This record gives sequence, structure tokens and C-alpha cells, in this order.
Amino acid sequence: MRKNIVAGNWKMNTTLAEGVGLAKDVNEALKGIDAKCDVVICVPFTHLASVAGVIDSKLGLGAENCADHVKGAYTGEVSAPMVASTGAKYVILGHSERRQYYGETSEILKTKVNLALAENLTPIFCIGEVLEERENGTFLDVVTKQIEEALFDLSAEDFGKLILAYEPVWAIGTGKTATAEQAEEMHAHIRSVIAGKYGQEVADNCSILYGGSCKPSNAKEIFEKPNVDGGLIGGAALDCASFMGIVTAF
Ligand code: PGA
Repeated sequence: MRKNIVAGNWKMNTTLAEGVGLAKDVNEALKGIDAKCDVVICVPFTHLASVAGVIDSKLGLGAENCADHVKGAYTGEVSAPMVASTGAKYVILGHSERRQYYGETSEILKTKVNLALAENLTPIFCIGEVLEERENGTFLDVVTKQIEEALFDLSAEDFGKLILAYEPVWAIGTGKTATAEQAEEMHAHIRSVIAGKYGQEVADNCSILYGGSCKPSNAKEIFEKPNVDGGLIGGAALDCASFMGIVTAF
């Protein structure tokens, strides 16, 4: 059966010392509770190895991106094997900020997913519509296309290794959360798209997280929806207490 997961996405925040401190705090806080979900922190590349050294196995570690090549003359890039060599087990791919600011297309993301899977990294694959697509009513089709283009060449076995994160772009960092009903409508749609391609069992086993201004005050209502299996948390993951407030919403 699918897992409940709360994953933090630190984005381009914290110095190394601050990041290691925050990771230690989350690690300690997690020890003190009986979490009803898997907990993961996705941190900047520069922090991965140090953070891996200060957390226990109860807390998962991930990167926020990886390169679309394995190695070679790609100055400034960080490959999936490099990420895996730090001890990280997850990698966020296809975040809307990567799509929007760094031109990441479905073709590029398809390659990244394959490279991540080859290193036994679990991709947390992000999908979601922009405001205009929400307002003009095309949002279900937009998300279907994002999934089909980047992921539907995978075998059912490989697809089963993914975590998906639905992040409406208009809700990211804006304080404007999707309603629990809007999230549930999209998550149910995503699950039906997966079922159409890979069958009901693969669809039922896929964890689909919600992301976009998720905080302790709204997490419970969103996570209670049957097709929402947790959250990908940006701003609220930068504060240990608020992140733990979301973890304990389960
Ligand atoms: P937010 O970001 O929680 O700050 O809205 C979520 C994300 O972009 O993953």
C-alpha cells in the first residue's frame, strides 16, 4: 500500500551551518514522536553530505534536482551518482521553479528520472498548473500531459518507484493554498490517469503529495482527503516547529 510522506523542500535557503542545525533539530524532534508518515528533507547540494552525517535513518534525505547527464564537461552541474554518493535517497525533479526559471522540459525531465532511478534514488516528481490554466479550466489536461510526456515511457515497475507531488504553481510560496477539495479533485484525477496506463494496483500504490503553502493550520484538512498522501513543504519546512506541526497532522 502507498505510504504517507511529508517532505521538506528547502530550496535555495540556509547556509551550511544553518542547514546542518535545522537538520539536527528535525532529527531530534522526530525521535520524540511516533510519526504516522515517512519524513524527508530535500536540501541544497552543498549540504547533502554534512546533513547525511547528522541524521538517523528515520529521517530521509534528498536533493532538490540532479543533472540530465551522468558525468563529464557540464560545469556547475551535479549528477545523480554524485547525489547518491552523499547518502541521499530522494531527489525532487520537475519542480515548477526548475521548469519556469531553468527551462526544464518534459524531455529533459524524462532523462533525469531515468538517471535518478538508475542510482536507486526515489524521484519526487512535481506537476501542476499555472494560475491561467486553473482559471481557464484546462488544469486537469495540463497535469495529464505533464505526466504522460515525462513518465509514461517508464515500465510499470519503474513507475512504481516514483513519488508524485501535485503543486499548483499559483499556490507555491503565495500563501494561497488550494482548497482540500481542489487538491482531492486533482489527486483523484492523477490516480485515474495512472490507472488508465498502468492499472489500478500501480495507481493505488502511488503516493501523491500536495504542495503549495501547506502549513500546520491547513495540513490536516488536506491530508484527510483520500487521495492525498502527504505534502511537499517549502517555506514551512525552514522552521522545525512548523515542519513538525505538518508531520504530526497525520
Ligand atoms: P511552499 O513551497 O510550501 O513555500 O508554497 C512548496 C514547494 O514549492 O515545494
